[in-house]
Amino acid sequence: MTNDKRQIMKLNSQLFLDGGDPEETKAANELLKTGKPEWGIGIQGQTTNPTLVAKNPDVQKYIASGKRLTQSEALAEYKKIVMAVAEVTKGPISIQVIGDQSTTKEDMLAQARVYKEWIPNGVVKFPCIGNGLAAAEIFCQEFPVNITLNFSQEQAAAVYGATSKRRHHVFISPFVGRLDDRGENGMQVVENELRMYQSIKNHVEVLTASVRKIEHLLYAIALGSPAITIPFKIIEVWAAQGFPLPDDSFMYDSTGLRPIPFRQLDVAKNWRSFNLSHSLTDAGLHKFMEDWRSLL
Ligand code: G3P
Repeated sequence: MTNDKRQIMKLNSQLFLDGGDPEETKAANELLKTGKPEWGIGIQGQTTNPTLVAKNPDVQKYIASGKRLTQSEALAEYKKIVMAVAEVTKGPISIQVIGDQSTTKEDMLAQARVYKEWIPNGVVKFPCIGNGLAAAEIFCQEFPVNITLNFSQEQAAAVYGATSKRRHHVFISPFVGRLDDRGENGMQVVENELRMYQSIKNHVEVLTASVRKIEHLLYAIALGSPAITIPFKIIEVWAAQGFPLPDDSFMYDSTGLRPIPFRQLDVAKNWRSFNLSHSLTDAGLHKFMEDWRSLL
């Protein structure tokens, strides 16, 4: 096919910033607005997590001075960041519950109900573990949710069932970069989940996360992932290239990555019957906790 026959794809994905610094939110918003005025969009939402809060420049400065925060001061910092981000975007802003495998459903729900009051456009992020989904099962009837640390299609099948009674948006965040890091084709989890959800009457929006390179972003756009969360550095690279979109001959290069095959799963089954366990979910939870505790 010659270049002139190629069709540039339409942008059907919402673009979120993955970060914990409101200055980056403003900058990313400007880059998109001025770099692609014809799209008529800035940043359309944001995702945050304990690691990103810990990396916030003001928080970092405070910790570097040898001081530590109490749990309630750390949460106040988190709230400050989220409120500043909400000044820039009216789109969904994900706020993550702090916890690990030992955190109860009740504790996660209590945290979620505090976050719910912070901003009107919040989304509460629950980890993709049993207690996280049990809490989300209830909370999705009250407020939007985002299920984070997703690494398998089987987890995504459980998310579908656990949120079947939702009355608000339900996102799921497959972490593609972390699968790539260990030699697996992370983008295939996005492909598989979209394929599974497209074959049924679906309500779960795939929010591609842990984007490490332009190719992840372009392939997620090509697949029509409903949302993509992008680190500021990648937005800068994309902006420097003039915000190219994939064309219909776009091929994602997964050379060297082990395939993650599609599975036929019956999403109508009780969500608790799916195997939720994944070593990267456990490792991710541990790291989030560690980064949060480094502030205390
Ligand atoms: O939104 C998820 C993201 O923050 C995780 O990214 O690069 O730590 O795998 P990463």
